[in-house]
Amino acid sequence: MTHASSTKEIPVVGAIPRHIAIIMDGNGRWATKRFLPRVAGHAKGVEAVRAVVEACARKGVDYLTLFAFSSENWRRPEEEVSLLMRLFMTALEKEVAKLHANDIRLKVVGDLSRFDLKLQKMIEAAEARTANNKRMTFTICANYGGRWDIMQAVNRLQKEGKMDDGVSEEQIASYLSMAYAPEPDLFIRTGGETRISNFLLWQLAYSELYFTDTFWPDFDAASLDEAILSYQSRERRFGQTSAQLVEQAS
Ligand code: IPE
Ligand code: IPE
Ligand code: MG
Repeated sequence: MTHASSTKEIPVVGAIPRHIAIIMDGNGRWATKRFLPRVAGHAKGVEAVRAVVEACARKGVDYLTLFAFSSENWRRPEEEVSLLMRLFMTALEKEVAKLHANDIRLKVVGDLSRFDLKLQKMIEAAEARTANNKRMTFTICANYGGRWDIMQAVNRLQKEGKMDDGVSEEQIASYLSMAYAPEPDLFIRTGGETRISNFLLWQLAYSELYFTDTFWPDFDAASLDEAILSYQSRERRFGQTSAQLVEQAS
């Protein structure tokens, strides 16, 4: 099922955001600060992933989406890129059984064709194994770019002959690579930068944005609580006035 754009269908603000999307940033600086190689930061970052996945599942978050590798990250030194790939493979190997045991569905989205075949096969197997799990959907964005996503959606629509009469927002939304999820309620970026860096461009249209200086390897369940607390203090208006919202709630 695809969900209508939150800019049209206003979600009920629950205590816990249904979908949290995170740009995990600051691994390199975390390491440099400790006179360690950048890769040590990435390794430590994997531990933070584990903690945040667990915390989200425990809190009843339905969708957790993490930006692990952007389409722009290929520009990094070859050594760092290949280490990131190896880390990704090891993490998949080690963690999938645990995800499965905890009833968590794993999805990996992005242009996976650029990854080596072995990694592609591992991703496929992990997704298939966890496909029917219900507790939470955990999405990893790998070689992902928001512009790429919109482009691939439009290209597929065109290939399928669905563009003769132009396209609607709903059509584009239903062809995005995360069409299975509602739009993020809460967006978090760690590491101090206040930018979107080509993450989920379409779906972030009305998400609540939260930026923290905490480097990703230091981000834990308590940091997540802080972000959720900030989210809960906000009023999501989706273009309406505050008075209208109060009236509708009564
Ligand atoms: C985020 O941390 C991880 C990836 C992009 C893979 P960085 O590696 O970007 O860390 P900084 O921003 O250099 O500190
Ligand atoms: C964004 O982090 C991508 C990921 C976290 C995977 P970067 O550290 O690559 O972002 P920029 O390039 O500094 O904006
Ligand atoms: Mg960075």
